Amino acid sequence: MAGSSPRRVAGVVTDVCVAFLTLSAYASAGRIVTAFALCKCQKPKEKTMSLKLQIIICSTRPGRVGPAVANWFHGFAQSQGLFDCELVDLADFQLPVYDEPNHPRMQKYEHDHTKAWSRSVAKADAYIFVLPEYNFCPPPSFTNALDYVYSEWNYKPAGFVSYGGVSGGLRSAQLAKQWVTAVKMMPMFEGVTVQMPWTLIGEDGRFQANEHHEDSGEALLKELLKWAEAMKPMRSR
Ligand SMILES: Cc1cc2nc3c(=O)[nH]c(=O)nc-3n(C[C@H](O)[C@H](O)[C@H](O)COP(=O)(O)O)c2cc1C
Repeated sequence: MAGSSPRRVAGVVTDVCVAFLTLSAYASAGRIVTAFALCKCQKPKEKTMSLKLQIIICSTRPGRVGPAVANWFHGFAQSQGLFDCELVDLADFQLPVYDEPNHPRMQKYEHDHTKAWSRSVAKADAYIFVLPEYNFCPPPSFTNALDYVYSEWNYKPAGFVSYGGVSGGLRSAQLAKQWVTAVKMMPMFEGVTVQMPWTLIGEDGRFQANEHHEDSGEALLKELLKWAEAMKPMRSR
């Protein structure tokens, strides 16, 4: 600054200091805003991950395709991070055609298979039924399993991943929606329909989902979460 007066030099130094302080203040504010935004973004995840979602394989026959579809949806639901997910296979419970002497509302279960099923159903906050279509209807394994318990289903939301021929199991899902209301479940508007899933299973036995399955699956899970959160307090009343 040859030729500059001391006053002018002092003025430039002051300007530089003010600029530096202003930038520091903005940077700190930015860090605070970022930290706040991160807290806000992470909070719902922490809160909702405690809600349990059961993905239930409803077909039980030998050679069924249900497990391939259900395994895909289970992995997909886990990747969405909205629920704590569990895969449940109805076949594991070996429920005979309804054989309890008392109405399920009384919860006076006599058989071990009913007690095991009751414990399993009671654990969840929401359900996805992976549902085939048999003769335009849900399979009897599904309606039988619904009948076995009552209070365990009450005030919980239910979604459907249906599959079949060209219908994608839609007729089955539509009937199942009406059915679940009899045990006070709330059926979801959103749903996944899979046409001819057997054509989408690779040599490794894995179901190859397409964009439509994933988009509808995401919409279903988001809606299910809203209802699961809203309905949880209803069960403690
Ligand atoms: C008893 C029976 C009835 C069926 N009825 C229908 C039907 O009404 N509509 C349809 O789209 N597919 C129907 N199918 C074909 C099923 O969609 C197909 O077999 C599917 O793989 C069944 O699911 P699963 O393999 O998990 O049991 C029927 C299959 C069976 C075994």
